[in-house]
Amino acid sequence: MTDTLSLFTCIECGKQYDIREIRYRCDCGDLLEVIHNMDTSIPKARDWKSSLDGRMNESAFCRYQDILFPSLPREKIISLKEGDTPLYNVSHAFPDFGSLKLKHEGMNPTLSFKDRGMVAGVSWANELGCKHVICASTGDTSAAMAAYAGATPNMKGIVLLPEGKISPEQLAQAITYGALTVGIETDFDGCMKLVQQLTEKHNIYLLNSMNSVRIEGQKAIGIETLHQLNWKVPDWFVIPVGNAGNISALGKGLRELHELGIIDKLPRLAGIQTIGASPLYESYKNGYADLMPQKAKPTKASAIQIGNPVSFKKAVRELKHFNGVVEAVSETEIMDWKARIDSLGISICPNSSVAVSGTMKLLDNGIIDKHDDVVVILTAHGSKFSNTAIQYHSDPENKFSNQMLTIQPSLDKLERTLEL
Ligand code: F0G
Repeated sequence: MTDTLSLFTCIECGKQYDIREIRYRCDCGDLLEVIHNMDTSIPKARDWKSSLDGRMNESAFCRYQDILFPSLPREKIISLKEGDTPLYNVSHAFPDFGSLKLKHEGMNPTLSFKDRGMVAGVSWANELGCKHVICASTGDTSAAMAAYAGATPNMKGIVLLPEGKISPEQLAQAITYGALTVGIETDFDGCMKLVQQLTEKHNIYLLNSMNSVRIEGQKAIGIETLHQLNWKVPDWFVIPVGNAGNISALGKGLRELHELGIIDKLPRLAGIQTIGASPLYESYKNGYADLMPQKAKPTKASAIQIGNPVSFKKAVRELKHFNGVVEAVSETEIMDWKARIDSLGISICPNSSVAVSGTMKLLDNGIIDKHDDVVVILTAHGSKFSNTAIQYHSDPENKFSNQMLTIQPSLDKLERTLEL
């Protein structure tokens, strides 16, 4: 082993590999995860916590790097100043909770949480000298990868997208950041299969979340939230689930904080899916039965229209560790709760709203207790999904619709419209 600080370990058989090897799976075929020798990177929890105060001018990735991915040399980090996203307290609007806070990952440079993992993944590709990076995507991973590859000298991004299934804004991101953008007449699961076949054969670095280096970067979401809460652990974290990388990262980061003694209790985790793309939910309902891949049905939450989540096993492991639950929500719930949160001045995408809707459903079902402190992870910004929002608001039948009015240019007409 050339680096003793970090290693790849198989989540199933425990076999270990050098962190500098380009590999995404164990020889046994199962998923890998990165483990670090934290005794070296973080000698004392209390010192580490207090050291953060003097590091608030660093990017979030650098600030938490000792716990995220200590093996990455500082000079190889490609940052677009991701992180330090707002944690909005919306308890005033939702008094049924002990407290309700929204961690808005849509306030990252490419408007989604993917920047958290991509700073780790692309920086590591930079350290390894990779010239080409690739991902399959439902629109947000591709935007983030394209941006970070664009920011890296001598690196070209390639993105595979399910043709016609991502929003125009997401498509524009991949193209404008300069990635070679390929639309494929299939769904996300079809793109994912192709990208795995391609990277087995060719020297192109895979940056989907089955690349476990990316998961290490995404741990920052939970860690930064706890830091913002002054390390007071909420009762729940609620998060939308598609390919299941983000819930795995959230769990891993919180687990490590606990093992290091940085937090003194574990929150519970809730993973939320759409009713038409719910393989994790189906497994959960059946006592965490083996994954039964689905043909995921179209949903307004198009970023999580995924029927065969790659990180399924990791997600189940974390859900069990955190006494977690999984819920599924309908299209009406998703769009109504999106409108409700948008109207508070917090613009969210339908995928984020899946988590909000799930939170409300779990409260109604009594699974989330009335006095619980809850943090919901909002994964991307509403600006990525303008058409979906305009469509919703132009239909007066919708619960929170706010229709635009169009009039002729006359003061009289304007006054009558405004009922003045
Ligand atoms: N929310 C948004 C906005 C996403 O883009 C994704 C995934 C998720 C939630 C789910 O996270 O896959 O880690 O469970 N988007 C991927 C993509 C699949 O290609 O952009 P997950």
